[in-house]
Amino acid sequence: MSEPGLIRDVVRGVPVFPEEMPPFDPGAAPASPVDLFVEWLKRAVEDGIAAPHAVNLATTGEDGVPDARVVILKDVTSAGWQVASSMDSPKGRQLRKHPAAALTFFWPAAGRQVRIRGSVSTGTTEENDADFQRRHPVARALVLAGSQSAVLRSREDLEAAVEEQVHRIEAADGLASTTWTVFTVAPDAVEFWQADQERRHMRLLYTRFGEGWRRELLWP
Ligand SMILES: Cc1cc2nc3c(=O)[nH]c(=O)nc-3n(C[C@H](O)[C@H](O)[C@H](O)COP(=O)(O)O)c2cc1C
Repeated sequence: MSEPGLIRDVVRGVPVFPEEMPPFDPGAAPASPVDLFVEWLKRAVEDGIAAPHAVNLATTGEDGVPDARVVILKDVTSAGWQVASSMDSPKGRQLRKHPAAALTFFWPAAGRQVRIRGSVSTGTTEENDADFQRRHPVARALVLAGSQSAVLRSREDLEAAVEEQVHRIEAADGLASTTWTVFTVAPDAVEFWQADQERRHMRLLYTRFGEGWRRELLWP
């Protein structure tokens, strides 16, 4: 047990943002949040920010309580932000029952956060399979071996199941999964947040407006 105040002392003063951060001029922001996101993501990749495509995916639990976990961004198109997982995982079941989600990217070295909210659709069988086949064989074996997030009795069970499924994958070229699914979050609102050393953080919110987007600044 940690004494009250101990952790406060540990985290106090740990810097959150670097001295130098990329400039952000909301006045020059493109009309579409997808274009601005792509600009920011490419910049994050160029700047060597760790795992810039790791994103927090928040869903509504089957019990109504929010749930969240980190997943990998697969692609971004005019339709939205794509992530992938098993339909029989908790998040898959949650998204089937309540097809809406929030995504949060945080790129600490750039002092940047992007928040996306929207409805969720699932890929076609072909899209889901194409993504599945691009995955590492062990990642595919894990999907075929068991239900994600089910209780695991032992690591030996895991090793045996993975080994069995790897053999199946090697024996049958293009072995498909019935559960692997690409989820697309179609944005209703996208917020770009840029830290400012003087704490006058810059926030630009895009919300759907007719065929296009309304852009508004938000109080930090
Ligand atoms: C960096 C990182 C990337 C991950 N990427 C994925 C992913 O793309 N798909 C996935 O299903 N789980 C991914 N996971 C695991 C999830 O965070 C989570 O543990 C798992 O999907 C089970 O979530 P659920 O029980 O809410 O369904 C990733 C975890 C980390 C830390």
